[in-house]
Amino acid sequence: MKHYLSLQDIPDFDKAILEAIALKKDPLSEKSIGRDKTLGLLFFNASLRTRISTQKAAKNLGLEVIVMNFSQEGWQLEYEDGAVMNTGKAEHIKEAAGVLSGYCDLIGIRAFAELQSREEDQKEKVLLGFATHASVPIINLESALGHPLQGFADAITITEQLGEKVLPSLNKEGHVPKVVLSWAPHPKALPHAVANSFIVAMKRLNVAFSITHPKGYELDPKITGDTPIEHHQDTALKGAEIVYVKNWSSFKDYGKVMVEDPSWTITSEKIGNAQCMHCLPVRRNVVIADNVLDSDKSLVLEQANNRTYAAQWVLRELLKTMP
Ligand code: CP
Repeated sequence: MKHYLSLQDIPDFDKAILEAIALKKDPLSEKSIGRDKTLGLLFFNASLRTRISTQKAAKNLGLEVIVMNFSQEGWQLEYEDGAVMNTGKAEHIKEAAGVLSGYCDLIGIRAFAELQSREEDQKEKVLLGFATHASVPIINLESALGHPLQGFADAITITEQLGEKVLPSLNKEGHVPKVVLSWAPHPKALPHAVANSFIVAMKRLNVAFSITHPKGYELDPKITGDTPIEHHQDTALKGAEIVYVKNWSSFKDYGKVMVEDPSWTITSEKIGNAQCMHCLPVRRNVVIADNVLDSDKSLVLEQANNRTYAAQWVLRELLKTMP
């Protein structure tokens, strides 16, 4: 693995999940592998879980960590090749990435979709700019199009909850658990990254996976592919063992909030016996009701806890490639 930009960078997903679960049982088993090495974490957007879990993972491996809130503390970056930099942008990505590669052995980048232009967001100019111009491995801490550390942690959580039968290499036959990704309302326009990575993760597991959302909220068809889509939430949730809840804005009418229909809020009555997942932060009683989040149906804290071991596995694999 050269970089960790997407879930596709994990060659053997089943093996990675099992190894991450083993790391969780013995997190200090490789506490010297990162000794004398430095991880830089650059945040262009806010974070609680990603920032702290990645720092914790790095600490478990003996890495030093430097964190920078880049959008508040860094120079405004230019990304265009050949740009005449006579306006507000003071530093080019080429120098920024090159300089940071001298200070850090690994660099994590968080840069959300701006939701102004689909074409611009699809360029992934911040993440791919660093991957192109840095000489050290880059880790995606949530980009415009994906949140692969979250997707990996979610797959770990589902494997822990449903058992190894969800790993295709260990169980090609027998019971296939039903997992549903449900859209839920939110007052703000949110990116597609978490939903995208969850879809990619579920395609790599042995689960019966489907998506439910109101009409107009179709995600990128290049990512959903042949995943079944149901516009009636109650129909979609019947028989589900896991309901993954997430809001996203429209992909077609890019970045727009089409409906805020409160009947899509996830409640205990709706999910029945299913367990409920969400990446957090979650707006209570808008996205998910208290009677789910405060019950034993909620896996949200376990998901957040697994972010450490997803990050630790990724950092360890990247460190293994270094002298
Ligand atoms: N789930 C997640 O990425 O949380 P933060 O935005 O707080 O890092």
